[in-house]
Amino acid sequence: MGFLSMEGINIRFIQPEDGEACNEFHNNFYGKNRTLAQWNWEFLHSGLPDIPFVIAEKDRRVLGTLAQIPTRMIDEEGEFLTGKSEEALLDPVIRGTGIYPALFDKIFSYMESQGVLVVWGFTPAIKANKRAGFEVHTSIGQLFFPLHGDAVNALLKNNLSSPIKTRGIKMLCSLAGVFSSAVLCCSGWRINRSLARDIRIQTLSAPPRECADLCRAFVRQWGGTTVLRDEAFLRWRIFENPHLRATFRAAYLNNRLLGWVAYALDDNSVGHIVDIIAASKQLHPKNIETVVAALLIDAVVKLRKTGALGVRAWKVNNHPFDNLVARAARKVGFYYIPRGEWMVLHYLQGAAARPSLQSLDNWYINRIYTEGVLG
Ligand SMILES: CC(C)(COP(=O)(O)OP(=O)(O)OC[C@H]1O[C@@H](n2cnc3c(N)ncnc32)[C@H](O)[C@@H]1OP(=O)(O)O)[C@@H](O)C(=O)NCCC(=O)NCCS
Repeated sequence: MGFLSMEGINIRFIQPEDGEACNEFHNNFYGKNRTLAQWNWEFLHSGLPDIPFVIAEKDRRVLGTLAQIPTRMIDEEGEFLTGKSEEALLDPVIRGTGIYPALFDKIFSYMESQGVLVVWGFTPAIKANKRAGFEVHTSIGQLFFPLHGDAVNALLKNNLSSPIKTRGIKMLCSLAGVFSSAVLCCSGWRINRSLARDIRIQTLSAPPRECADLCRAFVRQWGGTTVLRDEAFLRWRIFENPHLRATFRAAYLNNRLLGWVAYALDDNSVGHIVDIIAASKQLHPKNIETVVAALLIDAVVKLRKTGALGVRAWKVNNHPFDNLVARAARKVGFYYIPRGEWMVLHYLQGAAARPSLQSLDNWYINRIYTEGVLG
């Protein structure tokens, strides 16, 4: 707890004109230079009557922020709304005072009033989020394709592993960096080569018209739930992203959309698989593994050309498609590294009646769910 009197702290929903102060609070704390246009892009797209963004303030000074990005998801029963938590930050002087749970109380009741079924997020701050009413779920594992020995340093930034594990990862990556190109060349032997040859992969500059249908086919084929990547969502998160626009490569067989990969390179020259998804009634799951492998190889080769030190993707849970991506990734030379932040969930009224929400293994999650800087 800090030294500021807690009296007179006001918690309220913001108006659009509060954006500048909220963004400045974020930039000052993290030493960033996010622009107001980027802030507007992130937080003024909610489609809800009030901006789902609350602040704690005293004497008109912002001391805490908490926001939601309403995210439409889809399962076999249809579409539903969820809230992705962002911008959780308190000035150190008001930490440990119960303000954080109070911000969430306000957010939870508003999101519930808007028919949102679950609020979720990724965080290293497990204790604080448990106190605010969240259940803590699985941690996010990484699939990593080293392209250069220096990838190790970027990969281990903020790593929570023990020093011994860290040394192990460093050794593994240095060796793997040497062999990775060879593995990539040989990966053709482990996938259906004739199918891989027939798949056409193409860069798109706008969302494919069939993207929402592909998500519907995805949940029918693989079960569970995932973000509804309809045209509006992809345009907003990827094609009009004012931070960094991910490259979007779509895979077709006989002119039919099979899926896509979106990838981006961060400031540390690490490539990220922002999104990867595939579904097809016509193809056996084993062959979809080939589609995913072809998309991953495509992303790695293209990212290598742009100077990437390595490529990261997520391995989160036992959703059938999450497992398929991991199998395909290993075949083309990715390594699995258990690491990272935790996923936290808070169920709201109505969630209990939704079978797909009952287990986190039902969620197909990847980077497209995160805060936007990479997609
Ligand atoms: C996360 C935050 C809003 C929680 O505020 P709060 O509810 O008042 O809780 P506190 O800051 O007192 O932290 C509670 C506990 O969580 C831990 N914690 C807080 N942030 C953490 C983080 N980023 N990683 C790991 N642990 C964290 C604290 O160390 C503390 O642990 P302790 O009880 O063993 O001392 C606040 O700590 C904060 O603004 N942190 C910086 C931003 C941040 O880390 N955001 C995470 C994204 S959710």
